[in-house]
Amino acid sequence: MTQRTLVLLKPDAVRRGQVGEIVRRIEAKGYSLVALDLRTATPELLAEHYAEHEGKPFYQPLVDFMLSGPVVAIVLEGERCIEGFRSLAGATDPTVAAPGTIRGDLGRDWGLAVQQNLVHGSDSEESAAREIGIWFPGL
Ligand code: CMP
Repeated sequence: MTQRTLVLLKPDAVRRGQVGEIVRRIEAKGYSLVALDLRTATPELLAEHYAEHEGKPFYQPLVDFMLSGPVVAIVLEGERCIEGFRSLAGATDPTVAAPGTIRGDLGRDWGLAVQQNLVHGSDSEESAAREIGIWFPGL
């Protein structure tokens, strides 16, 4: 089943010059890039994107981190790409993410208030539709 998913390359990925490496891995896997844009997020946009995390202890540090520099917003397309991208990304915690994954190979714990884990990928078809609508209205 062909799916679309919303991927974000977070400010740590952009700051560390890992955009090319991460996009290379996505393309090597064979997913199509439907949209790709360097953006500066806004508090309003992030409040929508992270609505499910509001109230959690890491919410405000996460929003502050996501506002700390530009992000790359991407829409991917391909068979089962929602699950496929999350598999490429690896576990949320980069310390234990498996080698071979984006977070496992390129990420680590920096001892900061929030997990800086390089990438976000939608976790379901429902989330993907919602998140694509937030980042790329009209797509
Ligand atoms: P993301 O896929 O963007 O979804 C929510 C984000 O919150 C997640 O990636 C991490 O960056 C961050 N996150 C999730 N769980 C924790 C946690 N326990 N502590 C700090 N940050 C977290």
